[in-house]
Amino acid sequence: MTSCSTVRKMFLMKVGYLRNVRYLTDSVAGNYQYIKVSKVGSRSNVGLIQLNRPKALNALCNPLLKEVAQAMTAFGKDSSVGAIVLTGNEKAFAAGADIKEMEDKTYASWMTSNMHQDLDCVAKVRKPVIAAVNGFALGGGCEMAMMCDIIYAGEKSRFGQPEILLGIIPGAGGTQRLIRSVGKSKAMEMVLTGNQITAQEAEKMGLVSKLFPVEKVLEESIKLGEKIASNSQIANMVAKECCNAAYETTLKEGLHLEKRMFHATFATKDQKEGMAAFVEKRKANFTNE
Ligand code: CAA
Repeated sequence: MTSCSTVRKMFLMKVGYLRNVRYLTDSVAGNYQYIKVSKVGSRSNVGLIQLNRPKALNALCNPLLKEVAQAMTAFGKDSSVGAIVLTGNEKAFAAGADIKEMEDKTYASWMTSNMHQDLDCVAKVRKPVIAAVNGFALGGGCEMAMMCDIIYAGEKSRFGQPEILLGIIPGAGGTQRLIRSVGKSKAMEMVLTGNQITAQEAEKMGLVSKLFPVEKVLEESIKLGEKIASNSQIANMVAKECCNAAYETTLKEGLHLEKRMFHATFATKDQKEGMAAFVEKRKANFTNE
């Protein structure tokens, strides 16, 4: 007899984007309208969030962002999840904040909205997050990808900060994270022209870590997530915190923090296990303690 979860897996693979994911597991509890959430990988230890508003090219409307924040927070708390993959579909990772929703906004309505708070959850989750990008990653979509720790992208993806063409400026990191990622001249060219760049240019600039054929991006991102999830979750979190601190601190302060955090890892059972496993020539079994 075919179980419900098997039927669901077959359905998800048939409908397209997830067809190349070998290990699709049950959907995670949660009543989501604009995203799909599941745990994937052979050990179901990678949290997958797929933006699912295809008709609007995954434009980041408020309810979608609320759901992303909810799912990110849930994966952040779920001890069985060691890494998170955030993706869209083959046509769009996300084409930006929802222009139709924003059109009539005022200063007061921005000040009282939670949109940025919800979007910021992508950057704030303490577990490693991989963006698996295909198609358009524009405006808030590019900014959302940059909030992730590593970007894997499809060969046909396009990145850009087109806000200037709408008479506004990037509002979720496009003038800050992009500069830090690709340098001032390239970032300012993107911000001031609104021009899109190709996946190949994005990789050359260092915005994207690796490029893959369109149909392989998600699979490769999940494989990367599985590799990262096999580490000590504590070491992953500490490494992420230290890498992110490099954006905020002087070199001297950053090196000091790194040294202290390095010392702190010696207070964990995972350090003892990792080093014992090396000495005993076996695979480490981290327990996140
Ligand atoms: N907001 C709302 N709807 C959007 C959208 C967006 N950002 N991007 C695309 N859509 C909608 C379109 O309106 C269209 O819907 P309808 O069929 O109902 O008209 C549907 O998605 C498909 O889009 P297109 O017909 O335009 O598709 P295309 O393939 O011809 O063009 C595109 C694709 C070049 C990405 C084009 O849609 C586009 O330029 N989108 C807007 C990109 C943009 O300016 N993003 C920045 C938004 S501002 C922002 O993000 C602020 C911030 O920093 C937080």
